[in-house]
Formats: sequence, structure tokens, C-alpha cells
Amino acid sequence: MADRTRVGVLISGRGSNLKALLDAQASADCPYEIALVVSNVEDAPGLDFARALGIATFAKAHKGMKRAEFDALVDAELRAHNIEAVALAGYMRLLSPGFVEGWAGRMINIHPSLLPLYKGLDTHQRAIEAGDAKHGCSVHLVTAELDDGPIIAQAEVPILPGDTPDTLAARVLVEEHRLYPLALAELVRTL
Ligand code: GRF
Repeated sequence: MADRTRVGVLISGRGSNLKALLDAQASADCPYEIALVVSNVEDAPGLDFARALGIATFAKAHKGMKRAEFDALVDAELRAHNIEAVALAGYMRLLSPGFVEGWAGRMINIHPSLLPLYKGLDTHQRAIEAGDAKHGCSVHLVTAELDDGPIIAQAEVPILPGDTPDTLAARVLVEEHRLYPLALAELVRTL
């Protein structure tokens, strides 16, 4: 499997999407290999999914560092591990323009809404409050604008009577875990 595309995943928290990406790479025809997991939160629970598989991790708190300075450190780690594509998976930190530019066309994000609706936070609550009939998740190429950039995959779920942000988030998350490995595989096949 030497020709699998080496992917770096950036996380900040529980890492359930990272886990979905890792589970999918167990399949023989998966075109990517997660070779590094980076976190800006030193004790992010999701790091354990990588460690359990012996995958390299880089965890460093960004506190006290300028954004571009921190991103340059992350970039150096990615390059040192010969990473060819980046997947953001719950990475709760804005990226500096230079970092984004350096990975243009090779970096994707998963966002819990049907973009261009509901960029930013609290997407499930906002969709319920708006009275929407459906909600979902989107995978997009990362550009300098938050939750912007060309959409490469989307999945929808219904919003049901009585839904709370938590019940809706859980329904969306099932789709995130299905969609993200497919979208990452699709991206790396084009590189
Ligand atoms: C997901 O809902 C993802 O769409 C959003 O942040 C959440 C991360 O969850 N960007 P996890 O850390 O992957 O479990």
C-alpha cells in the first residue's frame, strides 16, 4: 500500500470524524493513509484513536502564539511527515491565509450544515429555529473564508418534530461519518 496518499488530520476534540476516516482506511481499496494527526488541544480525546493505531501525533496548545506562527509549526510537521493532503475534522481554529494557500486544493473540511446555509457555530440550533425541514453536512475545499470554498459532497437528514440540537446533531453525525471518508477518498484520487 505504498502508493496511498499520505493525509494529515487536524482535530481539536472528540475526533469521531477522525475515527470514521481511520475505520475506512482498513479497507484494501482505500486510497489514503492517515499518517499524522495534529491537535491544537493537547489532551483532545481524539488523539487516542491515532495513538491506538501507532499513528504519529503532534499536539500543541496554540495559546500565546500568533496564528501564523502556530500554523507555520503545524505546516512544518505536515511537511516533515510527507503529508500530501489535509482533512480538518472538528478543528476549532481559524487558519491563517498563508497556511490555507500552501494547501490549496488539497485541504478539506466537514461542516454540520447544508452549506452555504449556517456557516460558523450552533448550526443545528439555527436550522431548528429557522423551521427548516432538512439539515445535513457538507464537505468542502478549504479557502481563506470560514466554511466557504467549493462543496465536494453533501448529505441530508430530515428535521423531525421535537428535535433538539442534540438529537439533530446525532442524526447529522451518522451522515458525517459516512460522507467524510468517501469525500476524502474522492479528493485524493484527483491529486
Ligand atoms: C463535527 O460535527 C464536524 O462537522 C464539525 O465539528 C464536529 C467535530 O466532531 N466541524 P468530531 O470531533 O469529529 O467528533
